[in-house]
Amino acid sequence: MKETSKRHLHNGKTIGFVPTMGALHEGHLSLIKRAKSENDIVVASIFINPTQFAPNEDFEKYPRDMEGDMEKLKREGVDILFMPDTKSMYSDGFSTYVTVKDLSDKLCGAFRPGHFTGVATVVCKLFNIVKPVAAYFGQKDFQQAAIIKRMVENLNMDVDLIICPTLREPDGLAMSSRNVYLSHEERRAAAVIYKTLLSASKMTKSGESNPVDVRKQMHDMLKAEPLISEIQYAGVYDTNTLDELNEFKRQNLLAVAVKIGSTRLIDNMIVEF
Ligand code: PAJ
Repeated sequence: MKETSKRHLHNGKTIGFVPTMGALHEGHLSLIKRAKSENDIVVASIFINPTQFAPNEDFEKYPRDMEGDMEKLKREGVDILFMPDTKSMYSDGFSTYVTVKDLSDKLCGAFRPGHFTGVATVVCKLFNIVKPVAAYFGQKDFQQAAIIKRMVENLNMDVDLIICPTLREPDGLAMSSRNVYLSHEERRAAAVIYKTLLSASKMTKSGESNPVDVRKQMHDMLKAEPLISEIQYAGVYDTNTLDELNEFKRQNLLAVAVKIGSTRLIDNMIVEF
């Protein structure tokens, strides 16, 4: 992959990069479409990165669909699919990790210790291997995108980050590789997440509430859905620091993480004044 990238760079081509863990859906493909429209060469990677899963998480059963994925990538006109194996990414003696302090312990990080170190480390490695001029991430994983952005700034990396909108199912549920874990009933119940965000965003925009009221309303709506087994967080956050807000700012992050059965789902919306 390094040699291929060097050859393209030598020939003056721009490389756009879309890192993924596979089980591709329209959300992933929207990033690829965007990358295609802005670069000469598009590289997609599929690597289920073990260092971002805690021992009790779903690394083993994470959905895999190599044939389907290759078919979709071909259809989108991806130039190069990079699919490293675990041994070549984490060889014996691997001992260097990238941690973006502060941002990594909040929101999802509080419930997934070590997760964002795994993410930042693998994305740093992938950037070094693929050498993209631009990399495409989804707003669906807002905290992940914020952490990668901070890493790129702090470590002086020459990569433009393009954050793309969240693609949703017709009932509003954010597309996610993990949605396949949901039973029929759970899948129906999951629509409450988007409804909660929508109603919170209306409440925020109305100008007649504060973040504490909005947070309460979000918790009330989520609690009313019996299939939600845990609310990990739901509220209004600062888009830069990811801290919970007591007063609205110009930009406000409405974010939710819940468990439906044993499936963890996240989603967010940004409300700007
Ligand atoms: P993965 O979950 O496969 O997601 C790959 C990219 O697709 C991420 O940037 C994610 O935000 C984006 N994405 C997922 N669902 C989306 C949706 N509904 N709409 C728009 N974009 C969506 O995120 C990862 O993989 C990994 O952590 C990775 C960055 C590859 C590092 O291992």
